[in-house]
Amino acid sequence: MEELIARAAEAIVGSELTIALTGAGVSVESGIPDFRSAGGLWEKFDPAEYATIEAFRADPEKVWRMLREMDAVVRGAKPNPAHTGMGELERMGYLHCIITQNVDNLHQEGGARNVIEYHGNAATLSCLSCNEKYRADEKRGNETPRCRCGAILKPDVVFFGEAIPYDAMNRSFQLASAAKALMVVGTSAVVSPANTIPSIAKRNGAVIIEINMERTHLTDSITDIFLQGSAGQIIARLVEAVKERAGGKG
Ligand code: APR
Repeated sequence: MEELIARAAEAIVGSELTIALTGAGVSVESGIPDFRSAGGLWEKFDPAEYATIEAFRADPEKVWRMLREMDAVVRGAKPNPAHTGMGELERMGYLHCIITQNVDNLHQEGGARNVIEYHGNAATLSCLSCNEKYRADEKRGNETPRCRCGAILKPDVVFFGEAIPYDAMNRSFQLASAAKALMVVGTSAVVSPANTIPSIAKRNGAVIIEINMERTHLTDSITDIFLQGSAGQIIARLVEAVKERAGGKG
């Protein structure tokens, strides 16, 4: 593994533009279960019944039961060394932007400033009837949050069947097309269109560094350097290896 970490650090230090694509695996060590591993969220809640915009419109009260459970877990979560390590790489100038599929705000709390929230963020709620916006923490409680117009509010996260925010999609495509190195961290890469980012980067000549607990369909197809294990531990070692190669700068 040390040799692979050394190769990944070389690629990052030698890259003029390094970006990252992250998924739920990067927050598992913060206590937030991912979706598709054993014991993941979709084992408990069928995404077809709880995570589509149709399901939300049909029975928002039911979907809010899952959302409240997720909120309770996310609210208590703190950034782990994967988040803080990526924040440090950004501060050192070796990570330009993090495109995250997560809605837990932990990259920002871990020090990263240039974060694209590809699936939105759970910190704000919107009214599908009158477009009024609220902060999630001002509507937290046991009842289903309602707008002053009476309609049930929806978190500003992207449900299956909804469009990716245009700005997020556009900026991500541009960065993936220009990147010289892409870190893919803690994602099964099964959900589109986020999972097109690694192939866009690869097609444009980026080195693909995959950090994941398990092999994914990317590992044997487009990944150049596969670092298998926990994101928190691997990224902490990667940051040290980058510092050594950068002459201890940073
Ligand atoms: N370190 C590294 N990788 C990990 C860790 C860890 N500590 N724990 C889990 N993983 C890996 C799992 O092996 C898996 O490959 O992270 C990946 C998580 O995959 P998913 O659960 O599918 O999560 P993600 O890829 O983010 O899902 C994408 O699907 O349901 C939608 O909107 C939801 O944004 C989500 C999208």
